[in-house]
Amino acid sequence: MPVNILAIESSCDETAAAVISDKRILSNVIATQQVHQKYGGVVPELASRQHIQHIVPVVEESLAKSGVAMTDLNAVAFTAGPGLIGSLMVGCSFAKAMAVSLEVPVISVHHMQAHIHAHFLSGVKPAFPFLCLTVSGGHTQIVLVKDYLEMEVIGETLDDAAGEAFDKTAKLLKLPYPGGPLIDRYAQQGKPKFSFPEPDIPGLDFSFSGLKTSILYFLRENTAKNPHFGEENMNDICASVQQRIVSILLNKLELAAERFQISEVAIAGGVSANSALRSELKQRGDRNGWRVFIPPLEYCTDNAAMIASVAYHRYLAKKFDSLDVAPAARMEW
Ligand code: KG4
Ligand code: ZN
Repeated sequence: MPVNILAIESSCDETAAAVISDKRILSNVIATQQVHQKYGGVVPELASRQHIQHIVPVVEESLAKSGVAMTDLNAVAFTAGPGLIGSLMVGCSFAKAMAVSLEVPVISVHHMQAHIHAHFLSGVKPAFPFLCLTVSGGHTQIVLVKDYLEMEVIGETLDDAAGEAFDKTAKLLKLPYPGGPLIDRYAQQGKPKFSFPEPDIPGLDFSFSGLKTSILYFLRENTAKNPHFGEENMNDICASVQQRIVSILLNKLELAAERFQISEVAIAGGVSANSALRSELKQRGDRNGWRVFIPPLEYCTDNAAMIASVAYHRYLAKKFDSLDVAPAARMEW
């Protein structure tokens, strides 16, 4: 009999549910919240309320598409953190209630570990140990992935995440949230003709707050001379900022690969959808003799299929949770 697990993701502004049967994803449903666009970022209280509205239809659709009857589920999994606490509580409470009523175990999943599991859902899988640059709206990490559930963060951001650097730049350019995909799109029409500094951070850690400040001053100075500077140079500004963010990320990834003597190199998380990061990683891979792993776009940004994959491996390892399990905004690995 296959192991069937329903997984729920609600850590930020996506309500998602997926069903996995052994290693096969049978359904992957996502409801994205549009309400935050006009606020320039996710408003936590609005996010929690939207999760409450979306969770029942999303879970119902996921089960229906999978063809698995609720009574054939072996476990119910949910994202326990890191994330917005109110949002996490919706997924956690729902998963626990469902697990109790079905008399099956509940499994908690670490959201960042799950992003890395995007690599185990389809296509050629990286061999252990591999390095994964995990870049999302809230995190920027280089992770040494030793096994499905054994991972070590070897470098991380000291301030803003890469996704935040994209989103905050977009806000300065008066673009709606989330700005990352829009910057990517404008950058494809532009040239990186403006220069922004690369921070001088030792080791494998990152920093993006200096970049944000330099973009702010750059726009302020130029807008004082020409009030339409932002709109007139949108494509080139986006190309320049994107090129700098990508080079900050990949320079550190290169350093990590050299230090750890690893040539299996992956990216994951929302920012791994960025077209420049994807193509530049391939180029660096060719140059360095790496095998490069880039997830399909549907598994880069938040989804429940990746939660289901971690849950499946936790199920095999009998890592179940008690009903006291609580979500946490910050979470150790
Ligand atoms: O992993 P994710 O969906 O959610 C979190 O766990 O945070 O990542 C969302 C982040 C946002 O900051 C968004 O702007 C960024 O990923 N993002 C992108 C692109 N697509 C999503 N950033 C740059 N280029 C993209 N194409
Ligand atoms: Zn995420």
